[in-house]
Amino acid sequence: MSLYSPSSAPSAVRLRPATLEDAGLLARWDREPHVIACSTDDPDANIAFGGIDWREELADQSEVGFYRIAEVDGRAIGVMQIIDPHLEPTHYWGEIEPDLRAMDIWIGPPDALNRGYGTQMMTLAIDAAFADPKVTAIVIDPLASNTDAHRFYRRLGFQPVGRRMFDEDDCLVHRLERATWEARP
Ligand SMILES: CC(C)(COP(=O)(O)OP(=O)(O)OC[C@H]1O[C@@H](n2cnc3c(N)ncnc32)[C@H](O)[C@@H]1OP(=O)(O)O)[C@@H](O)C(=O)NCCC(=O)NCCS
Repeated sequence: MSLYSPSSAPSAVRLRPATLEDAGLLARWDREPHVIACSTDDPDANIAFGGIDWREELADQSEVGFYRIAEVDGRAIGVMQIIDPHLEPTHYWGEIEPDLRAMDIWIGPPDALNRGYGTQMMTLAIDAAFADPKVTAIVIDPLASNTDAHRFYRRLGFQPVGRRMFDEDDCLVHRLERATWEARP
């Protein structure tokens, strides 16, 4: 017998491009405690990502840095950022080899956590990234303190490759090689 009966199997997630109209939604999610906690170790923070201006961020999207909104049955439940860390203009990752993708992910509404949606989002985005034959690996930079996220990424095949400071943020960089992804069962 399967662990999940068809009625409790997770609904299908769809990733669509983010538009300027998503700015309000993303700003609301920035007030959720689980989103704040993934963006900073500051215990006094009351907004995620230092209060980013989402209209500006979304207007700046390009081929080398863009957002995808995850929807389930037409409801937006999460977001991903996908960049080419070698070409992306802010050079957030510093000196880094070409032909990688860097990703970030968060679920917005608390009731959408732990339902398998994050795994579906990552699977769709990783498949799309590796559809480009030049892409060799995917990197991510969760806070070193975000051990739930580390477990989530490890299950997808990411391996920790080293601790690194990004500005004030103490992160544990993880990497997923193309060969690892293609060899998964
Ligand atoms: C990290 C994150 C994106 C994972 O997404 P998610 O949808 O919650 O993750 P999933 O449901 O796919 O998998 C995580 C858990 O759900 C369980 N799960 C997977 N499929 C499931 C299903 N169909 N039904 C119930 N549980 C399921 C997994 O076993 C896992 O449990 P564990 O934590 O006890 O090991 C999400 O937790 C999140 O947004 N966290 C806050 C932001 C964050 O930390 N982002 C990462 C920044 S680097």
